Amino acid sequence: GRKWQQIEAFGAALTFAQTPAHWLDWCAGKGHLGRRLLQPGQQLTCLEYDPALIASGQALSDRHDLPATHHLQDVMANVAIQPEHTPVALHACGDLHVRLLQLASAAGCKQLALAPCCYNRITADRYQAVSAAGRASLLQLSIDDLGLPLSETVTAGNRVRQQRDTSMARRLGFDQLQRQVRGCDDYLPTPSLPASWLDKSFADYCQELASLKGLSTGEQDWTTLEAHGWQRLAEVRNLELVRGLFRRPLELWLVLDRALFMVEQGYNVEVGSFCEPSLTPRNLMVLAERE
Ligand SMILES: C[S@@+](CC[C@H](N)C(=O)[O-])C[C@H]1O[C@@H](n2cnc3c(N)ncnc32)[C@H](O)[C@@H]1O
Repeated sequence: GRKWQQIEAFGAALTFAQTPAHWLDWCAGKGHLGRRLLQPGQQLTCLEYDPALIASGQALSDRHDLPATHHLQDVMANVAIQPEHTPVALHACGDLHVRLLQLASAAGCKQLALAPCCYNRITADRYQAVSAAGRASLLQLSIDDLGLPLSETVTAGNRVRQQRDTSMARRLGFDQLQRQVRGCDDYLPTPSLPASWLDKSFADYCQELASLKGLSTGEQDWTTLEAHGWQRLAEVRNLELVRGLFRRPLELWLVLDRALFMVEQGYNVEVGSFCEPSLTPRNLMVLAERE
């Protein structure tokens, strides 16, 4: 239902001056977006590299007798984009949507619409700006930085949030303990644990986790250690708040880099949001059109 609402909102936000003749759904999945946009007299080509999605997408299009072709295509390989194509991409990841902008503008496409996603899914080891302004900027972004816009805490229920907090506070308490026991001020990776471990007392939790790591804890002041874990959790959450302030501005910077690239290629470009963030936090869209 949510995906369908995203598609409706994406479609409603398209304001092209020239009527498209041939939609190109980029990283189409089953091609729901392209099918939704398709009007009488228009054609649709869907590109997707998952054979199962191609097969069910083609079957859906055939069932509705639509002029749609679903191509099994890795969009990072050689792709033939035609000037009469109007590419649309809803939530295509990092390299995949940047490649679309480059190929479509070089092919002479008149219009395109893109809602980017997963800015951190790139093969380079740091961000490669695409616009001249982006390249001239002193801002250097690591893959980790590029994940920031995606790191919004998902709206979880109270119980889940409480569980997540307890689990993290315990890990932070254990981290303090292992540093003391090993006499070494380094982080010690620990395996993920089933939620049932949270039913143990903090002392049992630590002793069993320690023995998994081949450590012996001896007697400890468990109450103080546990409180220390909660204190550190509060500090972590505060640091996350500061980081969170940069989430949306960074995403806008990345989207504007794409938009400016299209301006440099001679397009009129609009940037905006196509739906409320509650429908999808990846709600920014780039619309580009040229004569
Ligand atoms: C987040 S989904 C979006 C799908 C669709 N646009 C939608 O909104 O429902 C991204 C899609 O890209 C496809 N994909 C990932 N890498 C690809 C590649 N190199 N070439 C073609 N498709 C790819 C995935 O299989 C997936 O269906």
